[in-house]
Amino acid sequence: MEITYNLKPDSERRIEQFKPDGDVGFGKLRTDHMFLMDYRDGEWQDPRIVPYAPFEMAPGAMSLHYGQSIFEGAKAYMHDDGEIYTFRLDKNAERMNRSAEIVCIPYLDEQVQLDAINALIDVDRLWFPMQQGACMYIRPFIFATEDRLSVSPSNQYTFCVMISPSGAYYAAGVNNAIRLLISKKFHRAVSGGTGASKAAGNYAASLRAGKAAAEYGAAQVLYLDSTNTQIEEVGAMNHFHVLKDGTIIIPEFTDTILQSITSKSIMELSEILGCEIRQETVMLDQFIADIQSGEIVEAGGFGTAAVVSPVGSYIFEDNTVVTVGDGKVGKHIQRIYQVYTDIQNGKMAGPEGWVKKVERTRQA
Ligand SMILES: Cc1ncc(COP(=O)(O)O)c(C=O)c1O
Repeated sequence: MEITYNLKPDSERRIEQFKPDGDVGFGKLRTDHMFLMDYRDGEWQDPRIVPYAPFEMAPGAMSLHYGQSIFEGAKAYMHDDGEIYTFRLDKNAERMNRSAEIVCIPYLDEQVQLDAINALIDVDRLWFPMQQGACMYIRPFIFATEDRLSVSPSNQYTFCVMISPSGAYYAAGVNNAIRLLISKKFHRAVSGGTGASKAAGNYAASLRAGKAAAEYGAAQVLYLDSTNTQIEEVGAMNHFHVLKDGTIIIPEFTDTILQSITSKSIMELSEILGCEIRQETVMLDQFIADIQSGEIVEAGGFGTAAVVSPVGSYIFEDNTVVTVGDGKVGKHIQRIYQVYTDIQNGKMAGPEGWVKKVERTRQA
């Protein structure tokens, strides 16, 4: 792919490595540039890196009206050699196309996506925040741009990649367990719907439930299936629990659950972690009974943002609270977090091909 570069002049862009004083937070900062590519006349075209700036878009652009828009989320890390490495980005590119299929967006070659992201990180590498545990958050997304008000798939799209220097999710490791609201009122997805995609609308649909969770003192919602009998996933994480023999259980992937790259990676690490990890249907009643009997000793969520979020307790809409173990962060979760972040940060060798260096193809 031949990318066109229209870069900011040196006087307007970062020319020294970013060394933030305080915590930069998550997703707040932008870099100097973004990657763009358009789909029109039946093909993806005009790959380019341009200054980060607002889009010009028709008020009738179909993504604004009918939500035909998808995204991905990934992270890159700086290793001790001073180079930036992406983590399993090929899996994000694959998932982008699974999402695309679900909301009728045209296929975008996975190598094109990877080349786009690598080229952008390379150009803006001085924006990598030099801070313990920091990362470069990567946000690729595709949205419909055709100016038309009839409901059918758009004929025009834009693929954009933006990156955001972000701080450590846990400044001092996984210390705090969160509470989740198990909702029988709100549902994230139904079979036959868009739950298995990272479609923008899924997140709009979760906002009201998220507000309700906050009213219960919960960080997020643990969604059930539409019959309120099975555990599905959390708003932005897959769910898991740990049995007292150390076995990790993740709900089976269905068409209502997003296939988390973190979950899949942890399943692939079972040998290194030294425990059995399996997927199965998790019935709500059995889950609660197993927590109460002590058969389940830990629980949490897997996702790119935090890697693992330990859950100390669950609350129902009738205010019943169920505490997992002693309500604190358990040893299995601590170990998963340590191994996973060591691989991401290049402190430990992971499986072949998981971390890939962002090549220096341009003068920074
Ligand atoms: C609904 C949902 N489930 C699960 C996940 C975790 O997926 P991953 O591990 O690929 O970040 C996310 C975040 O991307 C999500 O939005």
